[in-house]
Amino acid sequence: MHLLASPAGLPGSSSRFSSRFSPRSNLSLRQTGSKAGGLLTKASRSVTVSAILAISAVVMLALFLTSSPLLAQTSLSAASLKGALAPCDLRVEYLANPLGVDTPQPRFFWKNRHSERGQSQTAFELIVSSSPSADTGDLWESGKTSGDSSIQIVYGGKPLASNRTYYWKVRIYDSEDKASPWSEVARFDTGLLSPSDWKGQWIGSDGLLRREFTLPEEPRRARAYIAGLGYYELHLNGRRVGNHVLDPGWTNYKKRILYVTYDVTRLLRQGKNAIGVMLGQGWYKSRALIFELYIEDASGNVTEIHSDTSWQTARGPILEDSIYNGETYDARLEQPGWDRPDFAASPAGSWHQASAVEAPGGVLSSQMMPAIQVIETIVPLTMTNPAPGVYVFDLGQNISGWAQLRVSGPAGTDIRLRFSELLYDNGLINQENLRSARAEDHYILRGDGATEVWEPRFTYHGFRYIEVTGFPGTPRLDSVRGRVVHTAVSPAGNFSASTQILNDIQHLILWGQKTNLHSIPTDCCQRDERMGWMGDAQVTAEEAMMNYDMAAFYTNFLRNIRDEQAADGSITDTVPHIWGQRPADPAWGTAYPLIAWYMYQNYGDRRLIEDYYDSLKKYVEFLRSKAENGLLKYSYYGDWVAIEKCPGSLVSTFYYYYDTKVLADMARLINKTAEAQAYDKLAGDIKAAFNREFFDPKTRSYGPTQTANALPLFIGLATDKERGPAWSELFNDLVYEHDSHLTTGIIGTKYILDVLTSTGNSDLAYDILTRTDFPSYGYMLKNGATTLWEIWQQRQGPSMNSHNHPMLGSIGAWFYRALAGINIAPDSVAYKKLVIKPQMVRDLTHASGSLSTINGEVGCAWSKGDRHVKLEAVIPVGSEALIYIPVFKLRNLQLTEGGTVVFADSQLKTSLPGIKSIEAKGGNLIIQVGSGRYAFKLTGE
Ligand code: BGC
Repeated sequence: MHLLASPAGLPGSSSRFSSRFSPRSNLSLRQTGSKAGGLLTKASRSVTVSAILAISAVVMLALFLTSSPLLAQTSLSAASLKGALAPCDLRVEYLANPLGVDTPQPRFFWKNRHSERGQSQTAFELIVSSSPSADTGDLWESGKTSGDSSIQIVYGGKPLASNRTYYWKVRIYDSEDKASPWSEVARFDTGLLSPSDWKGQWIGSDGLLRREFTLPEEPRRARAYIAGLGYYELHLNGRRVGNHVLDPGWTNYKKRILYVTYDVTRLLRQGKNAIGVMLGQGWYKSRALIFELYIEDASGNVTEIHSDTSWQTARGPILEDSIYNGETYDARLEQPGWDRPDFAASPAGSWHQASAVEAPGGVLSSQMMPAIQVIETIVPLTMTNPAPGVYVFDLGQNISGWAQLRVSGPAGTDIRLRFSELLYDNGLINQENLRSARAEDHYILRGDGATEVWEPRFTYHGFRYIEVTGFPGTPRLDSVRGRVVHTAVSPAGNFSASTQILNDIQHLILWGQKTNLHSIPTDCCQRDERMGWMGDAQVTAEEAMMNYDMAAFYTNFLRNIRDEQAADGSITDTVPHIWGQRPADPAWGTAYPLIAWYMYQNYGDRRLIEDYYDSLKKYVEFLRSKAENGLLKYSYYGDWVAIEKCPGSLVSTFYYYYDTKVLADMARLINKTAEAQAYDKLAGDIKAAFNREFFDPKTRSYGPTQTANALPLFIGLATDKERGPAWSELFNDLVYEHDSHLTTGIIGTKYILDVLTSTGNSDLAYDILTRTDFPSYGYMLKNGATTLWEIWQQRQGPSMNSHNHPMLGSIGAWFYRALAGINIAPDSVAYKKLVIKPQMVRDLTHASGSLSTINGEVGCAWSKGDRHVKLEAVIPVGSEALIYIPVFKLRNLQLTEGGTVVFADSQLKTSLPGIKSIEAKGGNLIIQVGSGRYAFKLTGE
């Protein structure tokens, strides 16, 4: 019996749900349940595949064959070079040429390339020098160091000093012990390593701050260190410094404040100079600055400028700035020249001395992650005029950011911009789902006859539509533009498939994910929240790590979590903690151990595990202190936004088990063997308690919901006794009760597709993802979604219904793992060993995925056609892979690689470089390869 319960706070979902859910005929259900066999023979090809699909498949295949995205992406620029090429993509603490490194022993990373297959690094040589041209390392010479790792290489040289620039390069030795050329020289700058390096005072401001100073000589090297709360914008000599916006990243300011380092050498000059700083309130809800400028001239003289009460402050043009409500800017109050030397205040006396303010309390740490930036600019698709004087612009895409306005008109004209994700039928914007966030900017014109271009600085909105009122005359389509603003993480993944809806879902995932990276992972970007809700963060983290380079971002976020940990080990629902509870719902708190573990799995970050182990252990011990007989019963949200909700205590105990297991693995990793055993034992006790409590011998299941059965199957909580019945229940529920639709919330959704793939039911996962009726991703798309919704239901009123919540996007990881087939081998991390095992489901004729991993490019693109399967793979230097090519019903198999027959008559024919073995097993050809690019074609009868 399935009770169609509506999740808390979602009244009415059950009636809508049941009206859309009449289980279909068993015929379609059988199809759903069947395996992929038969796809390759004409006779058995599904009759439902339309001609259009067939044609588009041919086109896709042709495209795939002529211009493989993988080949294009990974082509070696210096293909004519032989042997190991110079290491590339050099990083320090995950960042390219970072400024402000404040880790005493930073870690180095690079990527290797080689003209031959099956190659790996056997040793490296790395030097760190104080000079860019040195061939010797006056700081560190690693010497020829054996090892196949090109990541997480810990600095082992002399102590690093504050505020210096260091240069480094590396070369490697390949499998034949041949040296590569040296890499190009990379650099890193240290930050202020000791609290005593901060000589300035915290000063307050009305909005603008300024200070002039004179330099006796031309500067040779100058660095500015700034922590401006809530947000700052730094100017030097009339120029804006850097391209960060909404900086610095959000932290619990009582614990930690991030400072940002800028190389300002070229902005300074001999003679008079001026510093200007604008401050906004941001999450600090006040304004405060600490600032250091260190300038060195050619003769080595150092001039230091610090923030102190000699700085001048004035109000400035920003009349209001609030993250939720928006910004009001009166251009008539601008003070031209305020950020240049020789500024004469007008009216005289409008500036006064800044006063010292109390320090926010936290330690100053360098912002070692990509900053928030304006990432792109969108010209609206349409402009309508739904009421007199009201213009509505449609960007065609829900974004996070703001609008840039272009206008000329009379001084004092007040233009109002309001933002929404939704429209009413009459074309006016619908802001109901923003709750108390006013999302309204005002620009008041300077009115000097010129075109005024303005955008706010210290607010942001989540929106697709912009309403403009008060515009002088009629705006043009490009009078406003959408500015997409989020943390500038580099894209790392590419996924595409022949079934368009999958690409459309990927679009929802990518936009939902990136527009919710605002120095922390946020739940949403439009209404009065934008919090680091930990449940949302943990379910999306794996997907995010595939689509974007998240290493530095999550390094920072994990530190934010640790900053919120209380003496009893508890952590909080949101980080920084503003909303929600302490202790966190265990499904939210699990973000701490799980994201730490994902950092290890994806980036090989063992040091993080070493550094965080004690704190993570404290967290697990906190859970243990709350558990009763192995069960963790408290839960506030559980399988949040589920249509059919499973008991919160089941979800909490699942995570208690998961966290304990992960802690045991971490203990093993860092050689705390006895602790590993103790936590293994605890996990065993939880498992027994879980099965006793939640497995019902009468119904032979963990309950009547998909999530209740998926969770224990995912993690191996179910023993041999429970596994079969739990799986039957899950399968029946998915297929017979709900016609291949999910009724899960954010927790069940994250794991259920992996359960289907591990049980050999990827076809069913595909069916679920290609549904277009309620509830499904296709349903969101059909109803105009351009980012993921918060809930499965289509709602537009004042209730909880954000139209940009990334949490249901956790399934993005399945696209790469299952459809593109890219998996880290179970006994490996950081893509060092791979299992390439694409699920060539149903009518899908092609899928491709590539990941820019910490160890280099990984890719897989496959296509299937009449009696053949093609698969191209890219494996990074130093990695190896097991590649699975399904043989379907083909007989008399022949496998070619690059046109050469490598396998026929059930045996190896030719041995080609990089290919270690080929065997036919379990319905697959399994090919073991080393690094390199491969183009396989399997044919048969
Ligand atoms: C947020 C969620 C969050 C939840 C806690 C909501 O208001 O937007 O995404 O995880 O509260 O259940």
